[in-house]
Amino acid sequence: MCELFGVELSEEMIENLPKKWELHGDLAILPKHSFRSSNWLSILSNQPQLQQQIWQAIAQALGVNRLAQQAEISSDRLRTSQVTMLLGENGEVEFTDYGVKFWFDVTKVMFSSGNVTERHRIGSIDMTDECVIDAFAGIGYYTLPMLVRSGARHIYACELNADSVDALSRGARLNGVTNRLTIVEGDNQDTLKNLTGLADRVHLGILPSSESVWHLAVDCLKTTGGVIHIHMNVKEVEVDEFVMYCLSELQDYVTKHHNFTNITVIHVEKVKWYAPHTRHIVIDVCID
Ligand SMILES: C[S@@+](CC[C@H](N)C(=O)[O-])C[C@H]1O[C@@H](n2cnc3c(N)ncnc32)[C@H](O)[C@@H]1O
Repeated sequence: MCELFGVELSEEMIENLPKKWELHGDLAILPKHSFRSSNWLSILSNQPQLQQQIWQAIAQALGVNRLAQQAEISSDRLRTSQVTMLLGENGEVEFTDYGVKFWFDVTKVMFSSGNVTERHRIGSIDMTDECVIDAFAGIGYYTLPMLVRSGARHIYACELNADSVDALSRGARLNGVTNRLTIVEGDNQDTLKNLTGLADRVHLGILPSSESVWHLAVDCLKTTGGVIHIHMNVKEVEVDEFVMYCLSELQDYVTKHHNFTNITVIHVEKVKWYAPHTRHIVIDVCID
């Protein structure tokens, strides 16, 4: 095809072709570095017809109708997506994972496909009769599996980003669980204070650190206690040390502010490599 347009592919251009992609229904997202070499950039900007044909050929090869390209996730706390559409009108996608339906717009919010094993693990925990707080709900990555698969009685889902709130409420409708979900819009530093003493379980799914809400999460537990899922990025060689730090930090807080007597680490999950030598871990802590 490039030959038809008088373009000869150099080694560098071949090297810069996408070798992997994310699939969301009929939409594929190409990696952020693909087609970004100086040769590709100048050819694609000067030859819009060729560009269009390349996007169409890739979409056809991948069996999708729409194509987008990944970009850096914004470093703001909203974790806004900066994905851009290459082919197709909009970035709205709906997909089903382990029987749970999700909806989101890839151009507006990020979706971490690397957390799939953790999503499945959390969804396999029996939460029958439990009241759960998801402090960083996003589009419902964990909220929806906890409602649909774990059978949580009710979830309070805290979320700051209006686009994620919209996606979460659509996801809840698709799964028929709106009557068991309360979306609490706003900064959880404020909103968690209105949820004290309510929860059997609190989920803290934020990276690189969830430490800013550890104390608030303890305050949200019922007086009978419960479980907190603590997400963190930790250097692989420091995981044990960090778990001890987490325990002693919680112990100090509980001693000063609560009547709980036991704090136990029930599980440490190594979810994924976040960066070389750095693990995304989840510490499941039982406090009662
Ligand atoms: C990293 S995303 C969740 C990612 C998800 N755990 C996954 O597996 O892909 C974190 C979510 O927390 C929300 N968030 C960040 N800070 C917040 C805060 N202070 N209060 C409420 N929501 C917050 C962001 O808007 C975002 O939707």
